[in-house]
Amino acid sequence: MVKAIGSDIDLSVPSDCEYYDYVKDLLESEVVQSMKQYHHHGHTSLFQHSVNVSYYNFLLCKKWGLNARAGARGALLHDLFLYDWHEHVRKPGQQHHGWTHPHTALENARKYFSPTPLEEDIIVKHMFPLTPIPPKYKEAFCVTLTDKFCGAWEVLDHWVYTAGRPVRFIKRVFAQ
Ligand SMILES: [Fe+2]
Ligand SMILES: [Fe+2]
Repeated sequence: MVKAIGSDIDLSVPSDCEYYDYVKDLLESEVVQSMKQYHHHGHTSLFQHSVNVSYYNFLLCKKWGLNARAGARGALLHDLFLYDWHEHVRKPGQQHHGWTHPHTALENARKYFSPTPLEEDIIVKHMFPLTPIPPKYKEAFCVTLTDKFCGAWEVLDHWVYTAGRPVRFIKRVFAQ
């Protein structure tokens, strides 16, 4: 079962799910599945974050009459950098992960898939305005919003989860 944060819809059901039809091959690929092993924001994995951004970007692109297929596919690959950035050691002279990872994600996307120019723009510009070159396509601009929105939601979700630990502990003790 694959769900986006805040949604109860199973995104991995083949029928009746337009989103799944658009991303099926990427979602089921070994390399995208491998993102489950990397932590991203709190208890959200890199895979879950990518699904969150991809699904909400798909919805936003649909709402604004844009290319929802490219919006979903590009967003699913936007953080395909394939390492745990918390433990990432920079090579001498290398910039911080925040600036370099869109290019690493694009290299990996090209290596494992065949992204369209629109999908490539989504991947490589998603950190705008931290990376100063603005998106060329509207769908890529959408990702600059959905990525930040989902990232903030995931961090908040982790704070709420962490703050609830003592309450859950007390409930468990008194339930025994
Ligand atoms: Fe990113
Ligand atoms: Fe991201």
